[in-house]
Amino acid sequence: TVASHRSQLANILVKEMDKRASGQVFEVIIAAPAPDAKGEFPLSPPKKKDLSLEKIQRKLEAAEERRRSHEAEVLKHLAEKREHEKEVQRKAMEENNNFSKMAEEKLNQKMEANKENEALQASMSEKFKEKDKKLEEVRAKKETKEGGAETSEN
Ligand SMILES: *[C@@H]1O[C@H](CO)[C@@H](O)[C@H](O)[C@H]1NC(C)=O
Repeated sequence: TVASHRSQLANILVKEMDKRASGQVFEVIIAAPAPDAKGEFPLSPPKKKDLSLEKIQRKLEAAEERRRSHEAEVLKHLAEKREHEKEVQRKAMEENNNFSKMAEEKLNQKMEANKENEALQASMSEKFKEKDKKLEEVRAKKETKEGGAETSEN
């Protein structure tokens, strides 16, 4: 295995390269001081500043978390509102459909009733016509009978 050790006193990386029967090989790297390595440096600023920095970092993270949570809440609320609007629209469409269906049914019923009425009127008219015809026939017979009687008897 390769083990790495960062020196506390200098920015020197000592890497154990390989273990062999003949001995050990090390790679020594003198690294340029990294910005995050400042804390490890003996001449780094006092710890107090680090703590306040950490505090600020935590506060920033908390604020970011609150912002995210609030954003999620707003998005959720918007989604619910949109869902509600969709539901209202769906219901309005359903009501409209129901109303159209009802109006169509009523119209059909009216038309059906009209048809029946027309048929009834037609049949009644037919009956009246027949009655008129019969009356006419009776009257014609009576007239010819009366007329014939007058002529035949005289
Ligand atoms: C529409 O009609 C259906 C069936 O008649 C009924 O179940 C439904 O409640 C009605 N919807 C509305 C919004 O009136």
